[in-house]
Amino acid sequence: YQNDKLSGQHWVITAGPTREAIDPVRYISNHSSGKMGFSLAQAAQQAGANVTLIAGPVHLNTPQSVKRIDVESAEQMHKQALTYANEATVFISCAAVADYRVAQIADHKIKKTDDNQEMQIKLVKNPDIVADVAQLTNKPYTVGFAAETQNIEQYALDKLKRKNLDLIAANNVATSGQGFNSDNNALTVYSTNNKFDIDLADKSLVAQQLVALIAEQLD
Ligand code: PMT
Repeated sequence: YQNDKLSGQHWVITAGPTREAIDPVRYISNHSSGKMGFSLAQAAQQAGANVTLIAGPVHLNTPQSVKRIDVESAEQMHKQALTYANEATVFISCAAVADYRVAQIADHKIKKTDDNQEMQIKLVKNPDIVADVAQLTNKPYTVGFAAETQNIEQYALDKLKRKNLDLIAANNVATSGQGFNSDNNALTVYSTNNKFDIDLADKSLVAQQLVALIAEQLD
């Protein structure tokens, strides 16, 4: 997929999980592999855009001619995303950002003690990256994802509105063979007054279709 319209455009894409440290050796994270976001970066670059990919910790090669910024935590991703999104045409938030981080990261490895059968870790809310991008004065065309296990349409539409997005790509992450850490995905994409289905296929094909859809919606 190639589109002359994208030449000179800057697309910023987040991908992968974030990692929220507990102590020097432990963290909280999720099963995102980064495949969906990296496929989008490759598809947007091949379509003609200049692409910056802000990646959480993943084991994937950088797509050709894509500028990659590596981060670990949601706060680090937030900082880089706002910097690059400020002069972007399109921002796609495919990263599975941790909603909460550890309130006090321990300086040293937390020790197991004989008397404690339970322990508690206090969490505090992370900034919402895509919602903050959508509040920029130079707001790019902003695309979110919605990873849901139930009430997919309702939750996706709620996120579209609440986060002030232009488009949201919903995926069912309860069905096996798609979503997190799989080679395939299927999306239902919503704008305020439209709905588009992208059928189950390899993430690289799904990414090409989503990039084409975004390019079309940009008109
Ligand atoms: O990486 P893969 O293994 O290929 O899997 C792909 C995927 C399932 C991770 C991907 O398709 C996907 O759904 N990504 C979004 C995951 C997610 O965090 O969804 P959410 O419904 O919790 O968040 C909604 C939106 O807000 C997302 O665009 C998310 O990037 C964004 N968000 C969430 C929290 C936060 N603090 N900041 C954010 O920007």
